[in-house]
Amino acid sequence: MVKPKVLISRRWPEAVERSMADRFDLTLNEADRPMTVADFRAAFAAFDAVCPTVTDKLGPDAFDLPQARTKVLGNFGVGFSHIDLEGAKRHGMAVTNTPDVLSDCTADIAMTLMLMVARRAGEGERELRAGEWAGWRPTHMIGTKVSGATLGIIGFGRIGQAMAQRAHHGFGMKILVQNRSPIAAEVLARYGARQVGSVEELLPDCDFLSLHCPGGAANLHLINAERLALMRRDAFLINTARGEVVDEAALAAALAEHRIGGAGLDVFEREPQITAALMDCPNLVMLPHLGSATRATREAMGFRVMENVSAFFDGKAPPDRVA
Ligand code: DGY
Repeated sequence: MVKPKVLISRRWPEAVERSMADRFDLTLNEADRPMTVADFRAAFAAFDAVCPTVTDKLGPDAFDLPQARTKVLGNFGVGFSHIDLEGAKRHGMAVTNTPDVLSDCTADIAMTLMLMVARRAGEGERELRAGEWAGWRPTHMIGTKVSGATLGIIGFGRIGQAMAQRAHHGFGMKILVQNRSPIAAEVLARYGARQVGSVEELLPDCDFLSLHCPGGAANLHLINAERLALMRRDAFLINTARGEVVDEAALAAALAEHRIGGAGLDVFEREPQITAALMDCPNLVMLPHLGSATRATREAMGFRVMENVSAFFDGKAPPDRVA
């Protein structure tokens, strides 16, 4: 039987690339350089399946070709706001993602950011490495207690719940939730959580706010200057969701003027570019989009793509079809 021609857009963990090569007529992006829109248009004309990831901006222009050979886009990642679903649909392409397998690691990174910024771990490490630590003293680098504080979570899907699990059961935090749709009472009860009606209602009550909603147009600048102004002056914002959910210019201004306590970011509006004003904020911890970056999770993500693409070509329903 002729194997489907499959392209993966960036290097994947070796074990997954090997399995993909056994199953498909596989083409790798050996150089691991981000592909251009023109590269994708050419790929859509030449491959049966294309497997993109978050760094691939597949807007309407990527789908601007007369006829596509590609029948399925197996996205490596849970978020898919970088893919123009209308364009994919127009060419009859199915789109799949990789939910579940990265929830724990993404929640772990959100906890890391929350603890780092509250306890000033980034600042402390910078001071020590610069040889500027003058020794222990009762007033040195005083931070904010995390245990027992109130955590607001926007978006209560799998990752939001994994965050609540850690924060409530590990750190005794009170959990408040804002979510587009109502969350079942038994799910809220699992984390001792209470759902509030709006973002405006949530913000004034939080010591920490962690974002776990999808990106894309619907949530563009969900956290803007007006909403930052509703946060407490000593509250912290954590974003491991998508960069576009936060207006970075407004955040930089709020941080610089100490209108909020601090922030922890794993995602950015224009990755890998960082808004210059953020670089000058000491009360900010930044990581280079490490949410799912563990060997176990990246392999699980790759195998999940393989499962989806295989199901598609076996004539079955891909388990994680999003369009
Ligand atoms: C995702 O899966 O959407 C992540 O952001 C990539 O790690």
